[in-house]
Amino acid sequence: MPSNAKLHAYLHGQIQPLESAFLHVRDLSIQRGYGIFDYFKVQQGQPVFLADYLQRFYESARLMELAVPLATDALKDVIQQLIQVNHLPHSGIKMILTGGYSANGYDPGEPNLIILQQPLTLPTPEMIAQGIKIITYEYVREIPKAKTINYSTGIRLIKQIKEAGASDVLYQKNGVVTEFPRCNFFIVTQDDVVVTPDADVLLGVTRKNVLKAASQKYKIEERAVTLQDIAQAKEAFLTSTTKRILPVVQVDEIVVGNGKPGAVTLELLDDLVALEGRQ
Ligand SMILES: Cc1ncc(COP(=O)(O)O)c(C=O)c1O
Repeated sequence: MPSNAKLHAYLHGQIQPLESAFLHVRDLSIQRGYGIFDYFKVQQGQPVFLADYLQRFYESARLMELAVPLATDALKDVIQQLIQVNHLPHSGIKMILTGGYSANGYDPGEPNLIILQQPLTLPTPEMIAQGIKIITYEYVREIPKAKTINYSTGIRLIKQIKEAGASDVLYQKNGVVTEFPRCNFFIVTQDDVVVTPDADVLLGVTRKNVLKAASQKYKIEERAVTLQDIAQAKEAFLTSTTKRILPVVQVDEIVVGNGKPGAVTLELLDDLVALEGRQ
């Protein structure tokens, strides 16, 4: 988080200066890494696809047996108040729900709800024009439908990714690829079918919107995607709230298609930006 004295955050039931928003060390997020979160964009002062993110936030909480202390309408009110106080028209909002203050460092307490607003960094035009190289790693997240705060595997691999001259890591199991630590994965087949893995993935809001946009023009499929499928694909890309769509041009030693960002990928990026604008 940037150190910005003017920024405010929501914690312990109130909006307060970020600089003094502290969580006690007894919290189960610190003691055991237990908690969930979600993250959405604010554009021109308005949350984008908020209903989808709130639905996923409550679902993650349910899957992890955490009670959200605010009902949907009250949570929306707090988000609106925070947007007004912070004056960050283009930004990201992170809602975190922790395991709460634990009496013995293991049993959950009353969950703590934290809401932060922070500046947003989108991919540069150069990154989009060049596409990225990625590596793969054998791993499946424990509860894929829950957006937990546990990113240990992805963070532990940062050094390995850099050493490989890559930008991210795609998880796979027995040659079946699933997702990145923070993004979903797509391929475009030689006959222009837009395909994304269906199992063991977080249901990304961007994934949903890209499938929606793609279905207007192309055949779409949610199914198992193998490393073999990638080797035969015409294009590949990743999706997430902050990255939107980023072309993937190399996976380990596999060069995807002609090694350049593909036409379908770039067209879907335009469609996604248009969809965001219609919000
Ligand atoms: C594991 C995982 N997959 C995919 C995504 C992308 O989801 P979204 O498009 O909703 O940002 C995220 C987002 O952080 C994630 O953590």
